[in-house]
Amino acid sequence: MPAPNIDTIVSLAKRRGFVFPSSEVYGGLGSAWDYGPLGVELCNNVKQAWWRWLVYERDDIEGIDSSIILNRLVWKYSGHEATFNDWLVDCRKCKGRFRSDKIVDNKCPSCGASDWTEARPFNTMLQTKLGAVADDDATALAYLRPETAQGIFINFLNVQTAMRRKLPFGIAQVGKSFRNEVTPGNFILRTREFEQMEMEYFVSPTAEHSQLVDYWVEQYLEWFGSLGINRDNLYLYEVPEDERAHYSKRTVDIMYKYFPEREKPWEELMGIAWRTDFDLSAHSKNKLDAEGKRINPESTEDLSYFDEATKQRFYPHVIEPAAGVNRTVLAVLMDAYSEKTNDKGETRVILKLTPQLAPIKAAILPLAKNKPEIVGMAKAIKRSLQPVLRAVYDDTGGIGKLYARQDEIGTPFCITVDHQSLEDEAVTVRDRDTWEQERIKVSELAEHLQKRLKPYPVAAAETI
Ligand code: GAP
Repeated sequence: MPAPNIDTIVSLAKRRGFVFPSSEVYGGLGSAWDYGPLGVELCNNVKQAWWRWLVYERDDIEGIDSSIILNRLVWKYSGHEATFNDWLVDCRKCKGRFRSDKIVDNKCPSCGASDWTEARPFNTMLQTKLGAVADDDATALAYLRPETAQGIFINFLNVQTAMRRKLPFGIAQVGKSFRNEVTPGNFILRTREFEQMEMEYFVSPTAEHSQLVDYWVEQYLEWFGSLGINRDNLYLYEVPEDERAHYSKRTVDIMYKYFPEREKPWEELMGIAWRTDFDLSAHSKNKLDAEGKRINPESTEDLSYFDEATKQRFYPHVIEPAAGVNRTVLAVLMDAYSEKTNDKGETRVILKLTPQLAPIKAAILPLAKNKPEIVGMAKAIKRSLQPVLRAVYDDTGGIGKLYARQDEIGTPFCITVDHQSLEDEAVTVRDRDTWEQERIKVSELAEHLQKRLKPYPVAAAETI
């Protein structure tokens, strides 16, 4: 049973230290959110799982970490300055401002009127100024990147030559992106500052691009499954031409059921796009347009690729799987949410996170916190586990309360140290999902837990 709605996760996330509304002491800031002690662990675990899956386990992908602020010309030639727009309309009656593509039945969502101004573009790149310059100095204008992808394209040749790569190969990057969203909202689903996990997969212009899009869709469905996201809550949307970004010849969005309570429950989790050779051509000094003119007279590099096998030079095409960290985290939390009734008829929340994503893998709980020998043994066990897995010690309540708290934050194992432990050097290991308990020797505990924490196996991703 996944969470019935996003609000259930908002309240759990705040109560248990996953996500807090940002700047609360000053009344908050629009749709900004801060990740708490458990939220930062969960995000890191998602990002690490992604990095391991693509960069470590495959043989055809390199990682990079480019700057957030790039030369403004990057955004001129990528097309973002001209086209990264939302189209806005104003309601003449109530003066409300809305995205024109979100208006239903031509009615103002605030007052119901149908008297609109002409739609006009609003560029959603967030601006800043570099250096100590006057307010009106246009030469200092810079942008916070709206996608991590461009930092990959401008480094294509650096990575290819430094790592002696041949096509096909990919470059992965995870990091913050920024968009001045007109209508942010729905918790961490749409915010102005967010994180992306993007990978640009470079292939020959004659490759089967559409099949490669399908290949990456399948790979990601598998990967989301390994994170505990139920396939039934995912849906593939073939994006029609009029909704695609300017660079795309085909895009498939993987949608997640973020709004199970609504008639239209789906929202984009990620997109897989065939970006053609648009970006590498656009940043290259030698690429000519149909009239023989350089399309980029300001670039000092040519990002073309020489293929030894065919002795041909060309601009590689790109298949891009682009996912959001925050949207993945939200989908993971919604699908992990479950409720269970105990012997006393009380309903308990259990967050069934896969062990690899759980912020805490094992909680060490002393049955009697006024017994120094038991407390000492529990703390020593915590310290001994720490080098191999994330463990915590907790004695802030009775054992029932401590179990309930760990269940609610998704800790797969609770280790209880009791009076008998002092004699038999063994502890009780309680399973989060079944509540079953097993007696395990302390000397075998680390190995026992590590075996049971093994990540869900993702099908071995063959190099294409
Ligand atoms: N480089 C291609 C690109 O950026 P996108 O569909 O605009 O494509 C990719 O973004 C993913 O980034 C989305 O599927 C979503 O998961 C995430 N994303 C985009 N805008 C977001 C926002 N305002 N808040 C949270 N996540 C966002």
